[in-house]
Amino acid sequence: MKRLTALGGGSGDSKEVYDDWAPTYERNLQEDYGYIAPRLAADAFAEFCADKDTRILDLGCGTGLVGQELVGRGYRNIDGLDISPNMLAEAQAKGIYGELITADMTQLIELGGRDYGAAIGVGCFGGGHLGPAHLAGLIRTVRIYGLLVFYINGIPYEEDDYPRHFQALEAQGDWRVLKAEESNYMQALDRPGWVVVGHRS
Ligand SMILES: C[S@@+](CC[C@H](N)C(=O)[O-])C[C@H]1O[C@@H](n2cnc3c(N)ncnc32)[C@H](O)[C@@H]1O
Repeated sequence: MKRLTALGGGSGDSKEVYDDWAPTYERNLQEDYGYIAPRLAADAFAEFCADKDTRILDLGCGTGLVGQELVGRGYRNIDGLDISPNMLAEAQAKGIYGELITADMTQLIELGGRDYGAAIGVGCFGGGHLGPAHLAGLIRTVRIYGLLVFYINGIPYEEDDYPRHFQALEAQGDWRVLKAEESNYMQALDRPGWVVVGHRS
């Protein structure tokens, strides 16, 4: 957790912090804090995606906790994308992802013609990670009407007024919000977060 609060801003920071954290990330978050955001997001994903074969992009996949939750719900065509090669190496070791893509989501995301029916991004928003300005680019990673599921820490969600940004994107015709729900994503602590589900328009 100290590592997260140490993240000042900028994707360069993120890459270094996560490369260093990769070997102990899961133990820290799951065993020490009861991190369940991947499970909460995957539950919301399953509510809106009946097609188990749709090609899914796990945005900021890290060590693959979200992929694991999706596989547990029967999804079988999942790629991952992350800025940290060491986090991606942990995800690769799980053997559940098709392609693993090294990319910086604060920049134009080049997917080389890969066609995604859905994307999910968990824990990649807030200080040192992504901000509301990056949402439009994330939405464009899926095809028109593709499903998008984001899980966002409650502090940046409120401080950066994500609801206003989501509404503005809807007004612009970029996407349509299907659900936004608050939950606690750290069972050992009181950590509010929001799952937001939508589809690209
Ligand atoms: C808190 S972790 C979440 C990982 C995973 N989704 C989970 O829930 O366990 C945030 C992830 O976002 C990645 N990340 C942060 N900034 C990024 C960026 N600009 N581009 C791509 N990935 C980024 C980090 O490397 C890290 O793996």
